[in-house]
Amino acid sequence: MADELLIYGSYGYTGQLVAREAVERGRSPVLGGRRAEPLEAQATTLDLDRRVFSLEHPHVIEERVAEFDAVLNCAGPFSRTADRLVSACIETGTDYLDIAGEIDVLEAVAERDREAERADVTLLPAVGFDVVPTDCLAAHVETRLPSATHLAIAIDGMGTFSPGTLKSIVEGFTRPGAVREEGTLREVPPAYRRRRVDLGQGAKPAVTVPWGDISTAYYTTGIGDIETYATVPAYAADLMERTRDLAPLMGSRPVRWALESTIDRFVSGPTAEERANSVSRVWAEATDDEGGRVAARLRTPDTYDLTAETAVESARRVVDGDVADGFQTPASAFGPDYVLEFDGVAREDATDGVSVPVDD
Ligand SMILES: NC(=O)c1ccc[n+]([C@@H]2O[C@H](COP(=O)([O-])OP(=O)(O)OC[C@H]3O[C@@H](n4cnc5c(N)ncnc54)[C@H](OP(=O)(O)O)[C@@H]3O)[C@@H](O)[C@H]2O)c1
Repeated sequence: MADELLIYGSYGYTGQLVAREAVERGRSPVLGGRRAEPLEAQATTLDLDRRVFSLEHPHVIEERVAEFDAVLNCAGPFSRTADRLVSACIETGTDYLDIAGEIDVLEAVAERDREAERADVTLLPAVGFDVVPTDCLAAHVETRLPSATHLAIAIDGMGTFSPGTLKSIVEGFTRPGAVREEGTLREVPPAYRRRRVDLGQGAKPAVTVPWGDISTAYYTTGIGDIETYATVPAYAADLMERTRDLAPLMGSRPVRWALESTIDRFVSGPTAEERANSVSRVWAEATDDEGGRVAARLRTPDTYDLTAETAVESARRVVDGDVADGFQTPASAFGPDYVLEFDGVAREDATDGVSVPVDD
């Protein structure tokens, strides 16, 4: 019989949280990664099996993933890992999950929907903080306003970062901003639009950022116009606009290499105490052409702790065969209320004028 679950990238900052959460919930996943030393140490501590393999050779990856019902990929930046693992999973009939949040990665997985269906494989990316809460909230507001044509999503409280998250952000310097218009992805400058959003603590300035929902919320809700915002201090919004032209420089190879080396040396990620004291908030608003408007917001625990919980629970359901084949989003797989099942998550429907667009 195949083993249940392989967690690949398990010794990274987030992978460790995910593996520990799985063990605490009585599961025995197998740990995977490309370096033997940290993997051995982790497997010994958690008393779990391990598989050391890199993602260089397709036949090696296939041989490894074929042993499992599902793979949960925590090795990011996912632009370097998702495609190879997805290909091996489709080839071997293994279900695939990840905690990616990059739009181009998610779009590439979505494109393999039919291929996965034919192979009886579930592809369920983005089962971390990015995008479980926002995807569920998008589905919630769309359910309350089925005529919706526009969706705006905002995130507040991304205070602390792990090494991998920062590397993904550095990688994002090479990418422009993005919005979805009439169902199509459109490149836009960073901080393309601004608005003020009340995520439960009064209105705060927010700017457009290329969050993963630009991809996933479209497949979840079918809404063709989507913007995603992050709250920022007012001075930062101005700065982002003024430094738009520096983006290609920041993303150049030498600058990226220098930034990634600095991250490796100095960034270890938030401590358990910092995570315990951290709260995040997300907000979604659906509007239609007749002036209809529905908004709601969520308060969640720390992004990394919630990521570990949602990733483990999503993987459990996939392994148990509860999810349809083909490409899925968290809310298409589990419904709008899925996120409410996790401790510390609260949703409220916003009936006040919680969001005010700001003219450019
Ligand atoms: N969806 C969410 O809400 C969410 C939440 C947290 C994190 N994330 C994302 O998850 C990713 C990991 O974050 P992290 O903080 O755990 O990063 P991290 O501490 O740097 O760990 C990254 C892990 O991925 C492995 N890895 C990276 N590139 C690889 C490659 N080409 N082949 C094989 N293994 C590779 C690393 O192995 P080596 O050490 O051997 O390089 C390490 O095990 C990031 O992309 C981050 O943005 C998403």
